[in-house]
Parts: sequence; C-alpha cells; structure tokens
Amino acid sequence: MILEKIKELQQRVEGLQATTADEIEKLRIQYLSKKGELSALMNEFRNVPAEQKKEVGMRINELKQKAFDKINSLREALGGNNDADSAIDITRTAYPIRLGTRHPLTLVKNEIIDIFSRLGFSLAEGPEIEDDWHVFSSMNFADDHPARDMQDTFFIEAHPDIILRTHTSSVQSRVMERQQPPIRVICPGRVYRNEAISARAHCFFHQVEGLYVDQDVSFTDLKQVLLLFAKELFGPDTKIRLRPSYFPFTEPSAEMDISCNICGGVGCGFCKHTGWVEILGCGMVHPRVLELNGIDSTKYKGYAFGMGIERITNLKYQVSDLRLFSENDVRFLEEFEAAN
Ligand code: DAH
Repeated sequence: MILEKIKELQQRVEGLQATTADEIEKLRIQYLSKKGELSALMNEFRNVPAEQKKEVGMRINELKQKAFDKINSLREALGGNNDADSAIDITRTAYPIRLGTRHPLTLVKNEIIDIFSRLGFSLAEGPEIEDDWHVFSSMNFADDHPARDMQDTFFIEAHPDIILRTHTSSVQSRVMERQQPPIRVICPGRVYRNEAISARAHCFFHQVEGLYVDQDVSFTDLKQVLLLFAKELFGPDTKIRLRPSYFPFTEPSAEMDISCNICGGVGCGFCKHTGWVEILGCGMVHPRVLELNGIDSTKYKGYAFGMGIERITNLKYQVSDLRLFSENDVRFLEEFEAAN
C-alpha cells in the first residue's frame, strides 16, 4: 500500500547520515534524481484510485520537501565550502524568476494590431531595405518629389535604387501586387529617415499602415473605422476630426486629430492648447496607385491610413524624449511592467 511506503521512506529520509559531499550526492541521486525513489513513487501515484489521490499527493509532496530539506541540511552541516563545487547550491530554487517587460512600442503596436484584427484586417509585412519602386514610384510620387531627396532618404551608395523605406506605405504596394481585392491589411514596421537625432526626431521610428480595397468602399467607411479605432485605443469619450491634406497616394487625403487625451480636450502643453493632436494621415487610395499595382480602378476603390507608433505611445504614456525608445535603459523599460 502506497501510504505505508511513503511512511517508510519518510523514516529513512529522516535518519539519513552522510559525512562527505560524495555521500550526500549519492543520497541525492538515490532519493531525488529522475531515477530515484521519489520518482518511482510518482509513477506509482498514477495508479492510486481517484478518491485517494488528494491525500496521497499531499503526503508525497511532504516527503519530497522533507528529502530536499534533509539533503540541504546535511550539506550545511558539512560546512559547504570544503570544495569548490559545494559553493554552488544546485538545489536552490530558481524562483522568483524576474519577468522581462515588453517594450512600450511593442505594447502599443500589439494593441493597434489587435483592434484592427477584430475589424477583419490581417497582418502584412514587407522589407525594410526596399527599392525605389515600392517606396515611391508605385505610390504615385513624382520623380522630383522632395521626399525622394537625399536629405530624407537613406540610399545605399553603390545602388541608388535600393533605399531604406521611409514609410510603411511600401507594404501597400507589396500586398496589392500579389493579391486582388478584397484586401484588408494592417502593416506595422520600422522606417528610416535621414534626420538629426533629437528629443523630437530620430533616424528610425515605427509606423502602422492600413489598407482596405474592395468594391464600393467610401470615405464614410474610413471615417467610421478610424473613429472606432480611436475610441478603442484612447477610450470611449475620444473624438476625432479630419482635416484636408495632401499625400501623393490618396485622393482626397486627410489628417486625423483626436481630442487630446492628456487634458481631455481642454488644452495643455502637449496639444499646444488646441485640445487636439494629430495622430495619422489617411485618404481614399488614388486610382493611379491601384492601377500602378495591378488593380482595376474602375471596379475597385480603397482607403488607406498610416500612423506613427512613437507618437501614439507618447500620447498614451507621455514619453517626452523619443530617444528613450531606443536606448533600452532598463529603468525606463521597467516602468511598463504593469502594462504587460
Ligand atoms: N506614409 C505617410 C507618412 O509616412 C503616412 C500615410 C498618410 C499613410 C496617408 C497612408 C495614408 O496610407 O493614406 O507620413
């Protein structure tokens, strides 16, 4: 009967004696190793009838603890430091294990992806090292558009056609060239611009791009989806407003502001006392962009939007210096432990 066996083992464990580290190790192997007596007991435990499992389980745990304690106390009695090995206590528990924290940009990115995936968008990614076509030409940038300028774009010297993407809009083109509508994708990624690094600008940052192409897509659909997104991300009282703007790849184009979630729209330093902060650019996909990427613009329409993750993270967590995001100072990163 297993309970008797446990009792018998317990008595043996209590009476264990050893005078050298080798002897202690032998005892540890005999009782606590994978092939030891306690493991054998665990194997037997499987056959214990259900109604006895609770009690027997408790007894085995007690026994295990006793055996651990006994062997530890034998080690301690030995003085521990007689040889180099005993300085390492291999029986010491590894707990509590300190958990790492997610990077704030990852937290916000995941939240954005989560909101759009609930709306039926799937994830798409593209390369950070891109060609001019996907970043600019297929997105309807004129040859002399200033964004292509050396001051903005990082070029690979030997290959002027190969660049570091300056926006995630390039992924729109990557998706459209391989897939016909309906298209609903959300494309997060890192982008690069040749800017002097300061508290407010960095040579790399992160964006999320959205693209929706189907029949009968309207600006109203875009506005409704963005309103829902803003409320999900910043809370149900959030308001949005759209201002006319210009992007080569959308027509009409707009920039979207949300009511400042730091002051609730009353006005503060962050929103420059306007009550509003800009968070993204958007618009109806320019028919030429559809055509350039192999989609029939007489049959299909689309909307697109793009936002900077750093900016949204600033709004959510009030990080005042962009450089904090890439310095990986653990004191900064640990502040997001609770948000995990
Ligand atoms: N690509 C733009 C930027 O980097 C952001 C953007 C604006 C993306 C409007 C869009 C859009 O898809 O429709 O500033």
